[in-house]
Parts: sequence; structure tokens; C-alpha cells
Amino acid sequence: MFSKSLISSVALCLGLALQASAHAIITPTLGVSGTAVRADVQCPSAASECRTINIPQNIDSLQAAIANQAGIFNVTITNFNGGVNGSCQIASALVDPTGTGNFASAQSATMILNGDLAPTVVGYQPLTVQLPAGLECAGGASADKCLVSFTTAGSFGNCVVVQQSA
Ligand SMILES: *[C@@H]1O[C@H](CO)[C@@H](O)[C@H](O)[C@H]1NC(C)=O
Ligand SMILES: *[C@@H]1O[C@H](CO)[C@@H](O)[C@H](O)[C@H]1NC(C)=O
Repeated sequence: MFSKSLISSVALCLGLALQASAHAIITPTLGVSGTAVRADVQCPSAASECRTINIPQNIDSLQAAIANQAGIFNVTITNFNGGVNGSCQIASALVDPTGTGNFASAQSATMILNGDLAPTVVGYQPLTVQLPAGLECAGGASADKCLVSFTTAGSFGNCVVVQQSA
């Protein structure tokens, strides 16, 4: 039952994304320079967490979110609708330490500060996230970047590059 509802919400997200009407995005967004807009939402799925984004071309192209010594980093979620469709609550944050988009052995990050399940207004909310303990990011030219695939409670989302501090 759970997986059935998950599949249908992913299908809903894909349908909405094709109509460029997806509802929430986490920034900094992999592959998106400047202000992220609704059409940049990627609707992660288990088969394709970062969807249409070319990872090798984009992992080093923009400012990453910077994790501190404890693996904690801040990102921002912007919602384009209210309600659960525009949810600012992260339901899943999967970490690919290779930075290649291979989430087969991904571990979950911990949400220290999460957003509202059903926001009443559109705008943005801060999110604070912690990488799994002991995890080492090895992606990108500097070999210290991870990819994190965020999915909201409304099943929207995208990938974010996170760089570990030295
Ligand atoms: C995250 O944001 C909070 C609030 O602005 C700040 O106190 C904290 O230092 C930030 N953490 C990191 C790792 O940047
Ligand atoms: C979510 O969005 C879809 C498509 O716009 C709409 O049909 C549905 O009613 C919305 N659900 C909620 C809870 O707002």
C-alpha cells in the first residue's frame, strides 16, 4: 500500500513537472544558476534521483552547499504553492558520496530543521541537514562533494551538491 501510494505520487509529480507546474525546489540546485523556478523542479525517483541533470557537467559548475566539520549544512526550500502539494517538509534526503548519481548504496541524511508539511503561504524556508556520521564525500574535481537527492512530502524535489569542509 505504501509503495503503491509512493508510485502514484511520483507519477503525479512527473506529470506536473512536464507541465512545468511542480511545486517546491531546494537550493542551491544542481544544474541551476540564478534564481530557481518552478520548471527547475526535478521530481526525484528511485530509478533517477537527479533526473534530467547532467551530473559530470554540473557538479563543479556552481557553488555547493558547504557542510561543517559535523557534516551539517544549510539549504533553502522555495514553494510555489501552498498545501501539501507545495510542501516544504523533506520526506527523503538520500546521499550519494560518490557524486556520480549512483544512489544504489545511498544513505539517508538527517533533517535537523525541516519545513512545514502544508505551508499556508508561498515563499521560502530554511532547512538544516546533517550528513550520515563518518560519511566521506568523494565526488567532483576536489574529491570532497556528495550529491543529496531531496524529495518533499508532496513528492517534488531535486539534487543538491554538498561539499565537505577540510
Ligand atoms: C546554518 O544556519 C544557521 C542559522 O542561520 C547558522 O546558525 C548555522 O551556523 C548554519 N550552519 C552551517 C553549517 O552553515
Ligand atoms: C495538487 O495539485 C494537483 C494538480 O494541480 C491538484 O489536482 C490537487 O488537487 C492538488 N492537491 C492539493 C491537496 O492541493
